[in-house]
Amino acid sequence: MKDQKLTVNPLLNSIRKEYEIHVLLEEQCHKDPVIQFERWLKDAIDTGDDHANAMVLSTVQANGMPDSRVVLLRNISYGGFTFYTNYKSKKANDINGNSKASLLFFWKELERQIRIQGEIKFLPTKESDDYFRERPFESRVGAWASQQSSEIKNRKELDDVFENKLKEFAGQDVPRPEHWGGYVFLPSRYEFWQGRPSRLHDRIQYQMDGTKKIWNRTRLMP
Ligand SMILES: Cc1cc2nc3c(=O)[nH]c(=O)nc-3n(C[C@H](O)[C@H](O)[C@H](O)COP(=O)(O)O)c2cc1C
Repeated sequence: MKDQKLTVNPLLNSIRKEYEIHVLLEEQCHKDPVIQFERWLKDAIDTGDDHANAMVLSTVQANGMPDSRVVLLRNISYGGFTFYTNYKSKKANDINGNSKASLLFFWKELERQIRIQGEIKFLPTKESDDYFRERPFESRVGAWASQQSSEIKNRKELDDVFENKLKEFAGQDVPRPEHWGGYVFLPSRYEFWQGRPSRLHDRIQYQMDGTKKIWNRTRLMP
């Protein structure tokens, strides 16, 4: 491959960061990882991060190729992490073929990362109905207008579909389309990462012992 001279390359080498705000010791970690997760999520929200609930969801497509994208965490219930999307999207297609996936949270201000592996299941339709009803009118119409991940000719085509749907639903209650709803991500492994000086970061892993149904906690080298 021909080497490109990109002006960003020297900048990349000049970015150096020492992590020194927090520590993560075993005695601070709750034995239930979802409680530990909740603590860290609250900390992230408290920093004023308006994307504190943004998470990278990675799925695997049929040919083994992984794919990642950001989705928003909307609830922690049914033993897992809830997000909403289009059931005919690329990610939904990946999940249909392989329900194993991973989540990643990165909270820059706190120098923290959480990696989670698990399995994805459909959320009960009632939950999706309830959540959909709470969304603003335009977002509800948007769910009807977008065939997420399908190809489209240009922006105008999308805007026209949206305009038509706005007219169609004007003054009406917008029902949840069947192709739109929630998933719940059920974790089987968590890793809490806290940046520390000299790259000697703290990494605490929780792994579900499937037979005993308990979480085993271990520390990993940075
Ligand atoms: C901050 C942020 C939040 C997002 N939240 C969602 C979400 O909650 N649900 C969703 O379907 N897509 C969300 N997206 C868009 C996805 O990243 C992605 O583009 C879309 O879901 C299509 O992905 P797919 O083609 O892999 O199915 C978000 C993107 C960003 C950057």
